[in-house]
Amino acid sequence: MATPILSNSFVIEPEETPRIETAHRRIATALPAPDYVDRLADAARVFPQVNCYQPPVIWDRASGYQVFDAAGNCWIDFSSTAVMTNTGHGHPAIRKAIAEHAQAGLFAQFSFASEVRIRLAEELLKLAPEHCDKVYFWTVGSEAIECALRLARVGGMEKNANKYRILTFTGDYHGWTLGAHQLSGDSAAKPWLATADSAIHHLPFPRQDPRSTDLTDREWSEFFDRSIEQLADQGVVADEVAGVVVETLQGWCATPLPMAYLKRLRAWADEHEVLLIFDEIQTGFGRTGKWFGHEHYGIKADLICIAKGVTSTLPLAAVLGPAEILDVLHPGEVTTTHAAHPLSCAAALANLKILRDENLTQEASRKGAIAEDALSDLQSRFPNHITQATGYGLLRAIHVQDPTTGKPSRELARDWTWAAVKHGVMLFQVNQPTVKVCPPLVIPDDAITEGIVALGDALQSILDA
Ligand SMILES: Cc1ncc(COP(=O)(O)O)c(C=O)c1O
Repeated sequence: MATPILSNSFVIEPEETPRIETAHRRIATALPAPDYVDRLADAARVFPQVNCYQPPVIWDRASGYQVFDAAGNCWIDFSSTAVMTNTGHGHPAIRKAIAEHAQAGLFAQFSFASEVRIRLAEELLKLAPEHCDKVYFWTVGSEAIECALRLARVGGMEKNANKYRILTFTGDYHGWTLGAHQLSGDSAAKPWLATADSAIHHLPFPRQDPRSTDLTDREWSEFFDRSIEQLADQGVVADEVAGVVVETLQGWCATPLPMAYLKRLRAWADEHEVLLIFDEIQTGFGRTGKWFGHEHYGIKADLICIAKGVTSTLPLAAVLGPAEILDVLHPGEVTTTHAAHPLSCAAALANLKILRDENLTQEASRKGAIAEDALSDLQSRFPNHITQATGYGLLRAIHVQDPTTGKPSRELARDWTWAAVKHGVMLFQVNQPTVKVCPPLVIPDDAITEGIVALGDALQSILDA
């Protein structure tokens, strides 16, 4: 019988792995763990292959910055479960809040009000910029994006029947649902759309080429103007644009936008009454060293989409913004059954308190500097394979290339991900030519450096093979 394949990239066949035992990591078995090969094969049988692309480990439990299997292995977690567990896995205060709320007995509420939901909205508005005075709750990030898209279009079309166009960026990711995926900028992933929405347009993402000299502020501003001129050449009139959706750091590559570019975008948006919608689903809640990623640029957000790190656990998402924008939809016009589930609200309230009490936003900034230094050493060790390491706080990406072709390499990123897991560092595959370093914000300083050095050992093991 052929060896079962958990995904198109990982074979479920235990490989002898050097044993590791430190204060932070333990690799005590061959990997995949021999005792769990059958269950991994069962996973491949019962899950569609689309869900089987992460390294073949059966997560048993996770705590703080570590992930454990039941075979005695323990990893430093650099995944944060897809950049979500900002306050760490299973923080005791969050577990307590969920348990207490479950005991208290409110398990579902649909669109009725409840104390826990009102309190969460109030807490979120304390964190949001002053002009945001309402919170429109959802369950997952893709829904928050769909909602922002709809708010921008409905509000735009109230001003002018033709004001429904939405701009976004090549390389952005905004979710998997129909509207959110149309906004996402990886065209290779979108043939399923068949007929794309002709009023969604992608601007070239303003990325600095690491091998060329930095553009000046003026050149970035002109870069933006040129993109708008190119749209105009295709018949897209600025006054017909209702909104621009932008990740405050592009997720797959943890790359910020140049400040001058964003300032110019903001001025243009004001001039043409266009909503600037920040996707903070990955960058929110301290992850980049600020409460929200857009604070790095000091510019105003009209709408802010949040999810993931708002709870560090259960699903909850929202759009934050001013009443005049959020109230364009009529009562009951757009609802969903599970939005702001009371258990998720209780988890979010506990999570926000931990972020504040443990100073995790400042900690992400301080620890981000440690990660930056270690990643810079790593790049010096592998100059032919690593083109750059980018990011803010604890949202970081290592950009990898095939040294023979000089082209970005998804294959190397995938192989490195698995080798890292074998070296006791949990990564997740992003299916891009990057390896993401996004530990929970509670990670100890020495686990950051130890994990990054282990990434180097993992890459070396591939080169030595
Ligand atoms: C920047 C960004 N936007 C939107 C989404 C979609 O969120 P969800 O997976 O909760 O639907 C993600 C998820 O990874 C994301 O990283």
